[in-house]
Amino acid sequence: MDIIIRENYEQMSKCAAEIIAGYVKAKPDCVLGLATGGTPIGTYRELIKMHREGLDFSQVRTFNLDEYLGVGIDLGKTYDLDQSYARFMYEELFKHINIKRENIYIPDGQTKDPKKFCMWYEQEIKKAGGIDLQLLGLGGDGHWGFNEPGSSLGSRTRVQALTEQTLDDNYEAFYKKANIARSQMPHFAITMGTGTILEAKNILMIVNGSKKADMVAKCLEGPITSQITATAIQLHSGDISVVLDQAAASKLKNSDHYKFVEKMKRQYGL
Ligand code: PGA
Repeated sequence: MDIIIRENYEQMSKCAAEIIAGYVKAKPDCVLGLATGGTPIGTYRELIKMHREGLDFSQVRTFNLDEYLGVGIDLGKTYDLDQSYARFMYEELFKHINIKRENIYIPDGQTKDPKKFCMWYEQEIKKAGGIDLQLLGLGGDGHWGFNEPGSSLGSRTRVQALTEQTLDDNYEAFYKKANIARSQMPHFAITMGTGTILEAKNILMIVNGSKKADMVAKCLEGPITSQITATAIQLHSGDISVVLDQAAASKLKNSDHYKFVEKMKRQYGL
């Protein structure tokens, strides 16, 4: 696991975007797993800049981690009224790059048959050859995707009830601004499971801000537990990059060691 600590949010975002761009350049038809929330916005802005300088997404396929149940839209059509993750992805990334609509997969929050849909989503990931690089944030309650405390570490794509903390965090970040009452925001989501995430070939986690510093330390240096589903990152067998800003890294016990390893790897081109 590479734990990379950068000065601030901008540097964290640049570093994460460079890692993603590396995959796209090495394999132009790579499959990216994408995330939503406040954390990846800077990374997406960097990718948009890179696209303007020539980074080509025309063959890239993407699978988003999650979507609120009850919302979701045709990308680019009726996006002005809802706070769906489909809308978020369209606004923050997709409309700015040359990705093909048919190569974008986001869980359908409006599905009439969530169980069937979730099985289909898992099959589509398999049909695409699996996810080459999964981008993830870290929730305030330790979730990744929307895998809330107590979800099985072997879980697959399914419907998940959101915790009060997640509802509070996401209300502040998104729904309040849109003048939507907290009681009106969706309380359920479709999410890839921790088992699904662990099958991604490689993982890129990004976290910023002092509010998440305790959770970062628990996630990376604490015991693996279904109470903090992102601790399952410690079980992953591929390349793992965790890119943090200084504030998010501030409670790590071994941060000097991580900085030393990064320096050595750079020096020896590893
Ligand atoms: P945030 O959410 O980026 O909005 O903090 C992260 C997450 O819930 O995974």
